[in-house]
Amino acid sequence: MFYVAPSLLAADFSDLKGEIKRMEEAGANYLHLDVMDGHFVPNISYGAPVISSIRKHTQLIFDVHLMISDPLKYVDSFIKAGADIITFHCEAVESPMDVLKAIQAKHIPCGIAISPQTPVDAVLPFVGVADMILVMTVEPGFGGQSFMPECLDKVRILRREALARGIDLAIEVDGGINGDNAVHCTEAGANILVAGSSLFKTKKPKTVIQQMRTAAKEHPFLG
Ligand code: DX5
Ligand code: ZN
Repeated sequence: MFYVAPSLLAADFSDLKGEIKRMEEAGANYLHLDVMDGHFVPNISYGAPVISSIRKHTQLIFDVHLMISDPLKYVDSFIKAGADIITFHCEAVESPMDVLKAIQAKHIPCGIAISPQTPVDAVLPFVGVADMILVMTVEPGFGGQSFMPECLDKVRILRREALARGIDLAIEVDGGINGDNAVHCTEAGANILVAGSSLFKTKKPKTVIQQMRTAAKEHPFLG
């Protein structure tokens, strides 16, 4: 399945309810929620209270991307706030496998994210274990950066590994994604596209989402 996940970081924060509605009407599947702690990344965004406040206004799947130093410590509060999927960074913890298993033990799907500078080997052991792998296509911490196409090599490697082992792996890409480069992401093997600026900063998000869906249909995984 193919999913589009608008990243709330690019929304007008004075009208979150209206912004989320706009994405629902445009055909989004997930709402990507970037949590930054000013420690793992050099920026601070928002936390569980904001997520809990918007939870009652939408049925979209809450895809929580934790860019924080001690994810396990805060997982319960994000589950309580309404997270449907929780993703943490492999670079943020000493033993990603232990953290992944601890989060999954709480009966919530868990993703593992990898930053541009980290080799794919850091997440390969999680194919077949993680519910999702998030390949960053910008340095984590800020919206509105330029897409790094070289990161798609990791997507290709992960998709090939999953296909070879008959695993239906969810691969999400995040950072600088728009209607034009979406096709490179889907060709490489991503099936969840996160997009902040390209969806929230346009008056026609529906057109961009349609472009993304066309990319997924016309250019499925390389295999
Ligand atoms: C960056 C975040 C992204 C970001 C995407 O650290 O993880 O989700 O909000 O925004 P755009 O699409 O503007 O790069
Ligand atoms: Zn993100």
